[in-house]
Amino acid sequence: MCGIFGCVLKEGNAAPLIHAALKRLEYRGYDSVGIATIHREEIFVKKDQGKIDEVHKLVNLDDMPGSLGIGHTRWATHGAPLKVNAHPHTDCTGQIEVVHNGIIENFIELKAELEEAGHKFVSRTDTEVFAHLVEDAYKRNSDFTLVQAVLHAIKRVDGSYAFAVISSREPDKIVCARNESPLVLGVSENAVYCASDLTAFLPLTKKAVMINDGELVVLTPGKYEIRKIQDNTAINREPSVIDWSPEMAVKKGYPHFMIKEIHEQPETLRSTLRMQEHYLELISTFLDRATEVFLIACGTSYHACLAASYMFSKLAFLPTYPVYASEFVEQHGKSVNIDSTILAVSQSGETADTLGAVTCAQQRAATILGLTNTIGSTLTRVSRVYIGQQSGPEIGVAATKTFTSQLSVMAQVALKLSKKRGKISQDEMDDLADRMEKLPETVEAIILTQEKKIKAIAKKYRDAKIFFFLGRGINTATAYEGRLKLMEIAYVPAIAYPAGESKHGPISLIEPGFPVVFVCPKDGQTHKTLIGNIQEMKARGAAIISIVEEGDEEIKAMSDDYVEVPKGIPEVLSPIPYVVPLQLLAYYMAVERGINPDTPRNLAKSVTVK
Ligand code: F6R
Repeated sequence: MCGIFGCVLKEGNAAPLIHAALKRLEYRGYDSVGIATIHREEIFVKKDQGKIDEVHKLVNLDDMPGSLGIGHTRWATHGAPLKVNAHPHTDCTGQIEVVHNGIIENFIELKAELEEAGHKFVSRTDTEVFAHLVEDAYKRNSDFTLVQAVLHAIKRVDGSYAFAVISSREPDKIVCARNESPLVLGVSENAVYCASDLTAFLPLTKKAVMINDGELVVLTPGKYEIRKIQDNTAINREPSVIDWSPEMAVKKGYPHFMIKEIHEQPETLRSTLRMQEHYLELISTFLDRATEVFLIACGTSYHACLAASYMFSKLAFLPTYPVYASEFVEQHGKSVNIDSTILAVSQSGETADTLGAVTCAQQRAATILGLTNTIGSTLTRVSRVYIGQQSGPEIGVAATKTFTSQLSVMAQVALKLSKKRGKISQDEMDDLADRMEKLPETVEAIILTQEKKIKAIAKKYRDAKIFFFLGRGINTATAYEGRLKLMEIAYVPAIAYPAGESKHGPISLIEPGFPVVFVCPKDGQTHKTLIGNIQEMKARGAAIISIVEEGDEEIKAMSDDYVEVPKGIPEVLSPIPYVVPLQLLAYYMAVERGINPDTPRNLAKSVTVK
């Protein structure tokens, strides 16, 4: 999730305006920044790694000539956050500049083909292939316009994108295109803008035009033209007036980052499903060779590891040991050795306990693998191989999209590993891959149909003094995560157990009205036994809140309140959609109790230290 911006002014200097717009987009990514402008048919580029202010201090981003330009603030997914990987990316001739938000899935194949044809690459990004594809289109047909060259290049690309392209051959225009990455235009007296978010131009104009998937846009002084990529037909779309404040726009109109990020999960899941084969292959090869595997992490990332251990076991028959990073040295510090493999999971890639465990394992010659949202973080630097979580910056202190993204990545790794090891049939594998593809829709449906109900449940239980969360099998991790969210955001003490353990002590807490949340997917072996656990709790007067599969009448009839999740989710993937109602419950409990969920007391998020 990066920020892109472009502007064509009727007069004046574009660079200071692009710089200011990128600052407003910095929440979308902040590991490198770059601007390209055109002046008198000459291209000017300034870019570097680091936050915008740091780069500006070094190179003065305002001091670039030209009334037209594009800019980018990056959240690395491919290639470390280095100057060479910062956008804009250039073709071999230096006549084309591209900024991009999204993921080009087939970039490895395209890069190989273009290199074979003599193109020279300087970065490790997926985006650079696009600049060379546009160049290649011109080479094949020297009469091509920039629009034709971009259209030609787009047809070669699989994946998600919002591109903005400029060329010194046609110095008066920006060509943009969109597929599954946001793109919006701004229109003012003196200028037209393109951006990945309204936030970028809100102080400049309130007139916006939303661009849809499959559309291409040409910006020229005082004008914009929208066309369909498929057949180049023109689309007439008038601007509408947006009455958001810049602050509301950063949160996309949501009152808090946490709820924005919960709602973002269909999009972030789509992004993680675009995980490059190459990375999955590398990580699964290491795991395949491992004799013992520890999954180490803290907090929410630990819960993702716990769920992943069921995935690895069920899909790939690989035993893995989830360990709290803060306990790793005490528990395994003496026994970890050259035959051990550590998969360290950390959204920030900077959590001290996780890095401490990694250091200990590294000193004892173990192999370190990483899963993180922050390419360029310490974790990526100390890992033999790492894989990106690809969910964009998470600003709310409570991790939400982190859990679902990490699990989506680990499910794909487990599936890959399973294939390597020949552990499940081709049919099962294809079926799981298909169902994984549907997860974004499922999460969308849960938010759309259940949010109101969850809000009402939060209202009903807002004064509860304590909550219980129970789940079985892989959804023990979901129950743990539900408890963590409720405690940290709404300050409600809560306990969580594997449901089977509840009768070995914790059940003595139950008295009439005690809220117990059950996570009850229908697939797999756990459903029947969970019904027994619900009955035990109900018999003692507990208030049962269940997260059930749509149409599960048996559990619904036993519940005081229930939330429904669409049918057809395989047990190994179930924590991904089933955690969403629990995130919403925690969020609305906090709001009901008058707590700001974005800034829970005593907590802060780790940030990357470069
Ligand atoms: C919970 C939360 C924390 C983090 C934990 C690990 O909502 O945000 O529990 O999950 O501090 O952080 P990372 O994943 O950055 O290592």
